[in-house]
Amino acid sequence: MIKKNINLKKLNTFGIDVFCDFFVEINSISEFFNLIKEPNYQSNQKLIIGGGSNLLFTKDFKGIVIKNNLKGINLVSENNAEVVVKVGAGENWHDFVMWCLNKNYSGLENLSLIPGCVGASPMQNIGAYGVEIKDVFENLEAYSINDGTTKIFNKNECEFGYRDSIFKRELKNKFLIASVNFRLKKQGILNTSYGAINLELAEMKIINPTIKDVSNAVIRIRKSKLPDPNEIGNAGSFFKNPEISKEKHEDLKKIFNDLVSYSLPNGNFKLAAGWLIEQCGLKGYEINDAAVHTKQALVIVNKKNCKGIDVFNLSNYVLNQVAQKFGVILEIEVNIV
Ligand code: FAD
Ligand code: EPU
Repeated sequence: MIKKNINLKKLNTFGIDVFCDFFVEINSISEFFNLIKEPNYQSNQKLIIGGGSNLLFTKDFKGIVIKNNLKGINLVSENNAEVVVKVGAGENWHDFVMWCLNKNYSGLENLSLIPGCVGASPMQNIGAYGVEIKDVFENLEAYSINDGTTKIFNKNECEFGYRDSIFKRELKNKFLIASVNFRLKKQGILNTSYGAINLELAEMKIINPTIKDVSNAVIRIRKSKLPDPNEIGNAGSFFKNPEISKEKHEDLKKIFNDLVSYSLPNGNFKLAAGWLIEQCGLKGYEINDAAVHTKQALVIVNKKNCKGIDVFNLSNYVLNQVAQKFGVILEIEVNIV
């Protein structure tokens, strides 16, 4: 049922107090097909949301917000080594990761505690601690927002990149992702290449870690750095970590010898945007109630009741300061509405 004039404050983790003209929850594909036939549907712009943890509303949304509640976790195939699991887009991401751990299926343990729903996970190819969903992604089922025609997207067709996919670019707001299939291992090899995981495991005094231990280590690291959206509004990293050329890297290294950077297989370097922002002296910097987080400068928080536009203005200020000091242009990771 379509509701009118709904407040979205509790539906976005930034806690921005905005309204949408129309709001509807989809619990089954047949409900989506019925929605398409509604008179209001075709004439209005649409926005699909899951957990609202990667969105910034800068104004009221003049159109229909569709909350995807499609549920279900089912085994599609299984052999001695692997399983393929089909997961409804409206399933909570972290609950699904915990489901995998309980079954002893490996591949997603490094992605523990990422907020949001399964349907948004391919949008920006979510990643953390050395793993991205593209590493375990099989395919997804999506429906055209305009006419409901269905399409299966395989990995190549999703064009996954770092915090990127075709759904964040050419196909933005064109498809409703209904379910995602993941290929998981029964006897997986642990990925503890991200240094912080090994340090945390050592601190936990664990010598032969299981996938549950890796998950617990990731959860402990995340809790120590990232603000809990239930306590203070945020959408995780606001910017992407920028990629620069070898030459630019050499130039910067001459001036900033403690520059935090990682070499990439293509010869370029990735910089830690949080470090760049911190070096500009911006930790804790505020515009109205929007602030650069004091523990992790890549995160912008809503300290109390800021407006989306305050967050956006602050992000522009950060962008300009980093560009002036380092000659590096940061790219926003969060979806601006
Ligand atoms: P939403 O915010 O609801 O939507 C995000 C985008 O996807 C929007 O453009 C929306 O229109 C679209 N969308 C959502 N569902 C669908 C669907 N079913 N079909 C089509 N389009 C859809 N991200 C990481 O990659 N790594 C991290 O480590 C990480 N850490 C975070 C930590 C915190 C504290 C927070 C708040 C966020 C973090 N994020 C991280 C970002 C966020 O959790 C992910 O991007 C997550 O996948 C968003 O899911 P969601 O359901 O909340 O999406
Ligand atoms: N750093 C600083 N100051 C800061 C923040 C970071 O100097 O204020 C330095 C750290 O000391 C470290 C480096 O920057 O040397 C990297 O920091 P961290 O390990 O915290 O990770 P990140 O690069 O800031 C990225 C992702 C996170 C993901 C973590 C772990 C992006 C944009 N962000 O953060 O993803 O959880 O790595 O893999 O790639 C998200 O996308 O929302 C998100 C939280």
